[in-house]
Amino acid sequence: MPNFILAIDTSCDDTSASVVSGRSVFSNVVASQTELHKKFGGVFPTVAKQAHRENIEPVIALALKRAGITASEVAAVAVTQGPGLAPALEVGIEHAKKIAVANHVPLIPINHVEGHVLSVLAKPKPKLGGTRHMLRNHTTDSEVKLPALSVIVSGGHTEFILVRKVGEYERIGWTVDDAAGEALDKFGRMVDLGYPAGPLVEQFAKQGNCSAFRFPLPMTTTDNYLMSFSGLKTAARKKVEELTATAPLKTQQIYDLCASFQYSVFHAITYKLNKYLSSLKSKSLELQLFGVWLGGGVAANVTLRRMLRETIKPYGLELRVPYSKKLCSDNGAMIGVAAFGKFDHQEFKSVDDIGDVERIPRWEIGKAH
Ligand code: KG4
Ligand code: ZN
Repeated sequence: MPNFILAIDTSCDDTSASVVSGRSVFSNVVASQTELHKKFGGVFPTVAKQAHRENIEPVIALALKRAGITASEVAAVAVTQGPGLAPALEVGIEHAKKIAVANHVPLIPINHVEGHVLSVLAKPKPKLGGTRHMLRNHTTDSEVKLPALSVIVSGGHTEFILVRKVGEYERIGWTVDDAAGEALDKFGRMVDLGYPAGPLVEQFAKQGNCSAFRFPLPMTTTDNYLMSFSGLKTAARKKVEELTATAPLKTQQIYDLCASFQYSVFHAITYKLNKYLSSLKSKSLELQLFGVWLGGGVAANVTLRRMLRETIKPYGLELRVPYSKKLCSDNGAMIGVAAFGKFDHQEFKSVDDIGDVERIPRWEIGKAH
């Protein structure tokens, strides 16, 4: 029997559960709360908590059913411990503990950002015939070429993370204010695209000219890999106000604004990425990267992927992305994939010790808490 891990993520506004074995994803169920939060133009924590409470049991039941197993067959339960919205995290942790206790299996607390980082290692479940007879079906850590640089771009995070080993991380750069996805969502509100605007900005940008409007490139004078997106947002607001002073925006202007703003957000990322890669090269540091990994909700964006590929190509690096776009936005499978390494190394809370697993709303990857 393969070791099945039931993994749960309730860090923000998606209720998700997944069954993985090794790094193979047997099911990945996500109940989105987007419709509920639309009227607030963002995630409203108490509404999220209530929706998680309603969704969690059916989502877990469906994840088990789709994987063709029962709760008594899981070898461990993994759950996002943080970072995320405190009331939302609480629901997942509470249910994960319940299932672990009821089935006498360990609990594996996972950092949500580590889940995004390792989402690129997830694999589709093996074809028929493999499931029940498969003792082991996973990529071992020695098969993953490391170190790699992980670029996480989501609604809550925009970070460069050096992956020395699976489980050993160093934050190289991050945003000092808004996350890139958050900036796209806020911009979308300015031009009435609804929430979350990221995917629509991508669609509209395809019909626009990314050079139509110029927004400033932030943080060019700082000698580090920090990023900032709030200045871009202010510049976009001014531009929209200027354009709408006399008449409503024309459709083509919205397309051009989307293309230009999206380009500027992504350029702010690739600029700092290039700065980091060139510093590694020029200082001929001991560090040799074997690849760049991309994760997070905005990682679904094709323009971001292209711009990153163009940036890293001169350094002989390739971009690794999750095998499906569903693995980019918040999901339980990435939590399961991150848990697998810990399960193998017995880094978990045995059923007698799970009482002290509490939510950690602010938890930097690579740091103890
Ligand atoms: O990873 P995620 O689901 O949640 C967080 O952990 O934040 O990311 C959600 C973010 C939102 O800001 C959404 O607008 C953005 O990802 N997003 C996109 C695309 N799909 C989702 N942004 C740009 N292009 C997309 N295709
Ligand atoms: Zn996330």
